[in-house]
Amino acid sequence: MNKPKVICLCGSTRFVGTFNEYNKKLTLEGNIVLSIEIVAPQSTENDPKYVNPEGKKMLDELHLKKIDLADEVLILNVGGYIGKNTANEIAYAHQTGKPVKYLEPVQNKGKENVYTPVQDTIAAKTGLRNQTDFIIREFRIEDYDSVAALWEEGGIHFKPNGRESRQRMAKEIKTGQAIFLVAEANKKVVGVVLGTHDGRKGWINRLAVAKEFRRQNVASKLIAAIENRLNDLGIDITACLIEQENLVSRTFFRKLGYIKAPVEYFSKKQYPDA
Ligand SMILES: CC(C)(COP(=O)(O)OP(=O)(O)OC[C@H]1O[C@@H](n2cnc3c(N)ncnc32)[C@H](O)[C@@H]1OP(=O)(O)O)[C@@H](O)C(=O)NCCC(=O)NCCS
Repeated sequence: MNKPKVICLCGSTRFVGTFNEYNKKLTLEGNIVLSIEIVAPQSTENDPKYVNPEGKKMLDELHLKKIDLADEVLILNVGGYIGKNTANEIAYAHQTGKPVKYLEPVQNKGKENVYTPVQDTIAAKTGLRNQTDFIIREFRIEDYDSVAALWEEGGIHFKPNGRESRQRMAKEIKTGQAIFLVAEANKKVVGVVLGTHDGRKGWINRLAVAKEFRRQNVASKLIAAIENRLNDLGIDITACLIEQENLVSRTFFRKLGYIKAPVEYFSKKQYPDA
């Protein structure tokens, strides 16, 4: 065996699942992977009972030492998120001359920096799927028709004459009140989600992924991006309403850690299409 490449994974500990996924994937591709070892639950992150500044500082320094050992650094910027620690690690990697790659495209950086999974027979044998390259970006009003087509295809009961009319959506993105994201692959919109909040709780609405792009984590990454954005606004609870018969969606949200609440939904419309 030739000398394996040593890859150091960097990113927010909130993406522990992605760390595990890429640790496994890159190891099976024949690399030595340096990853995070100790992850505090997200809920305890700012809890003074659990915060240990010295311990955290030591772990941060240890991670920089891992970068020293690495031939290459892979930034797990799920949904484009790069927190303060990760930004430090990127700066350190640049200072020490380590090549830096990103899981998802980064603004102002060329696509050559994006990690492309290796098509590898070992990976194929282990059932790891080769992911299609896609990016997550803000919705633009030019996307309206593609997004409406995705909602139609996904059986989403959207309201083209009401709250999802072209005019209302254009207005909504201007006010910045909603977080409206799309997934784009090969210059085509293949996924969409609309995040809203009332200052206390975040809501996930209108999630849909094109049929040929399903089961490739597109929706998971859209939700991660919405959760991060809401988190940055100080909102730490996200919810969604799912039609009872939508088993796929219920399975999907359960997989992401969402728990069903024993509530009945009541609403009142000012007009039938609202
Ligand atoms: C629900 C939906 C958005 C999921 O999108 P997706 O990009 O395929 O989801 P992901 O690939 O991120 O799936 C993550 C996990 O959810 C679960 N999941 C997703 N689709 C599933 C399916 N058809 N059957 C069983 N589990 C499923 C799996 O656990 C999956 O992980 P895995 O592929 O490693 O097993 C997509 O099926 C869709 O657009 N459906 C139609 C519209 C809709 O129902 N929207 C939700 C309205 S509330």
